[in-house]
Amino acid sequence: MNILGIESSCDECSAAVVVDGKKILSHVIASQTENHQIFYGVVPEIASRIHTEWIYGVVENTLKHSQLKLEEIDAIAVSTEPGLVGSLMVGLSFAKGLAYSLQKPLIGVNHIFAHLYACQLEFDVAYPFLGLLVSGGHTIISQVNGPDEIEVLGTTVDDACGEAFDKVAKFYQLGYPGGVAIDKLSQTGDPKAFLFPKAQLKHTKSPYDLSYSGLKTSVIHQKDQFQRGDSPKSDADLAASFQRVAIDMLLEKALLAMRERGLTRLVAGGGVAANSYLRSQLQREDKYEIYYPSLPLCTDNAAMIAGLGYENWKKRGGSDLSITVSPRVTGLHKGKPARK
Ligand code: KG4
Ligand code: ZN
Repeated sequence: MNILGIESSCDECSAAVVVDGKKILSHVIASQTENHQIFYGVVPEIASRIHTEWIYGVVENTLKHSQLKLEEIDAIAVSTEPGLVGSLMVGLSFAKGLAYSLQKPLIGVNHIFAHLYACQLEFDVAYPFLGLLVSGGHTIISQVNGPDEIEVLGTTVDDACGEAFDKVAKFYQLGYPGGVAIDKLSQTGDPKAFLFPKAQLKHTKSPYDLSYSGLKTSVIHQKDQFQRGDSPKSDADLAASFQRVAIDMLLEKALLAMRERGLTRLVAGGGVAANSYLRSQLQREDKYEIYYPSLPLCTDNAAMIAGLGYENWKKRGGSDLSITVSPRVTGLHKGKPARK
């Protein structure tokens, strides 16, 4: 089954053709990074307008590279949540128009679930596994029992991990996007130059919950001392020290959940799964099977949408043409399996 996937939940305008949820025939990701760089963050209205300009060309190029004719597309999968509402609506409206005109099924896809599916495009990962979803808007530790069966074990209680990278980078003007800039700078820094505290959460519901706002505040409060002319510590030291603690905190909780749940496989997904320190630390785990996607499949992309779209189709068929978008993830609950 040839599925055309469309993703526009934030600042990536992407389309892909994927066969049977596995084989990527073509994949185009047009990033708006340059358009938001001067603001040090994604400006929602600008993002929606650019999606409107780009989406036709992105889909056209994807089809051209797939060497399929439009009539050979069997269904259109599109992200409907979570994300920026205006951006999501551009992709969904385009997908609806295409599905209606071709009289082909439309399949709505949760893009967070899709981040945890991304590895299936490159590996055959057996279920269940520990899902480590780390993006700009979400930090979720879960037990994944099937493509859409996700039991949330722990989440951040405040900032998402990627959001902390973005805010620290913005505060110190280290570059944009924050995660990429901090990762790059960290290569030349001393990760032990600053000893930032790890959050110790005592009153949360789950032992796998995380908090990033204390770490972020602590990093930001270094400004007065750190930026004085005589400080021997560099931006790179600050970046590497922050990155080490942010990722160590995450991995400690994920590995605790693996042990306590008796899981043997870990799958990472989302933009922060591109982080080189995270990937190197995961590689050292020789007791478990560890999977993370190649770099283009970590951040938002349409191949994972088309891939999970196929699984959704097999289980539930297509979506109604009246479906709409949601800024938040629906259907995820702590402590009991979520089905979406
Ligand atoms: O999954 P994604 O593209 O969008 C969301 O669903 O949020 O993730 C974007 C996030 C941003 O916070 C970005 O700074 C972060 O992923 N990110 C990274 C890296 N590459 C992207 N964080 C740390 N290290 C990276 N190499
Ligand atoms: Zn995402």
